[in-house]
Amino acid sequence: MVAEVSASRSRMPAQPGPDWRSRLRAWRARQVARPEFRRFAQWLPFSRAYSRAQEADLFAIVTGFVQSQVLFAAVETGLLAALGSGPVAVADLGRATGLAEDRLRRLLQAAQAIRLVKVGGDGFVTLADHGAVVQSDEGIRAMIRHHALMYRDLSDPVGLFTGANSDTELRRLWSYAGSGRETSVRPGDAAAYSTLMAASQSMLADEILDAYDFGRHKWLIDVGGGEGAFISAVAGRHPAVRLSLFDLPPVAERARLRFSGQPLDQCPHCHGGSFLDDPLPRGNDCVTLVRVLFDHEDAVVLKLLRNVRAAMEPGHTLVIAEPMAGDSSRGQRLSTAYFGIYVLAMGSGRCRTPAEIVALARSAGFSSLEIRPCRSALMATLVIARP
Ligand SMILES: C[S@@+](CC[C@H](N)C(=O)[O-])C[C@H]1O[C@@H](n2cnc3c(N)ncnc32)[C@H](O)[C@@H]1O
Repeated sequence: MVAEVSASRSRMPAQPGPDWRSRLRAWRARQVARPEFRRFAQWLPFSRAYSRAQEADLFAIVTGFVQSQVLFAAVETGLLAALGSGPVAVADLGRATGLAEDRLRRLLQAAQAIRLVKVGGDGFVTLADHGAVVQSDEGIRAMIRHHALMYRDLSDPVGLFTGANSDTELRRLWSYAGSGRETSVRPGDAAAYSTLMAASQSMLADEILDAYDFGRHKWLIDVGGGEGAFISAVAGRHPAVRLSLFDLPPVAERARLRFSGQPLDQCPHCHGGSFLDDPLPRGNDCVTLVRVLFDHEDAVVLKLLRNVRAAMEPGHTLVIAEPMAGDSSRGQRLSTAYFGIYVLAMGSGRCRTPAEIVALARSAGFSSLEIRPCRSALMATLVIARP
């Protein structure tokens, strides 16, 4: 046994040592670790602001879970909703939230600290900037409420990384995620995740529509299009584009119901099937994949992209839109950390860099590839691909 191990070790290629950049970073880390260096950096006028911002940033990470829970409580108790139409006296907020005065004041104090509310000197409470945004957007509130599941999955983060904690709530919610589970999605499962996806499109669709002009196309099909929130947004911006959607049968059925009140000539076609096993409808000069690839492992993504490619002709365009990984902006870094861990808890998929998606699209037979940023990298980046 010992001989086998040493033989296999001797076949492993020698790991080259760290290059100068890694050595420089390690030197910098040693300096930053020294309290006297940090004091000096805060004293020097040109590094003071940076150094303080770094300190605040780290503290925000260390305490971040408390802020998330205060936000959750502010939504869940109805505090923000109660302030939706103007200033409310603290005593009336007690009735609206069901909280005793002492507890309510503590929630208000914490919520004010993270700019959800402002308690005025007159004893009235109003929404502050972050609170106003959360209260105005049902999609953000849906995501905040949804995080209750994720908090439970993250209660043992080490177990999540070792793989010991694989029976997660997110895995149960996203019932198609993981190889071969897509056909077992039942209508109740589809409803649970599709309503969340539809609500959260309010944050995303404008970003995508501002970054790419879909008005240049005649027919668009949104593959993995959920219950149709994205194509509804496309219709609002580009009424002349004919729209259709492809998703698993119970989800496509929900989309059909959503559009059932529309006049027949404007009603999008909603196709039910598996984008892995069924041929996709042909003749669409634009195909979109919105928040679809990151749910799946590379082999599944490749199969899907090949299927999409097979339904397209030269001159047609595929627009891939989802949060992508990277280090070049705060939005990308947030997206990397959040979606990377989200899909880990889901048990399937990866938050990929734009370059990784380009490489997969190229392997699937696309030749003209462009990466296009959206305003908020946290929401999405686009990869535009043509055969
Ligand atoms: C994360 S959701 C995104 C939905 C929508 N594009 C959006 O951004 O709101 C992924 C979608 O892919 C669909 N999906 C997953 N596996 C599928 C498959 N094999 N065939 C068709 N659709 C599938 C799911 O039903 C779900 O609607």
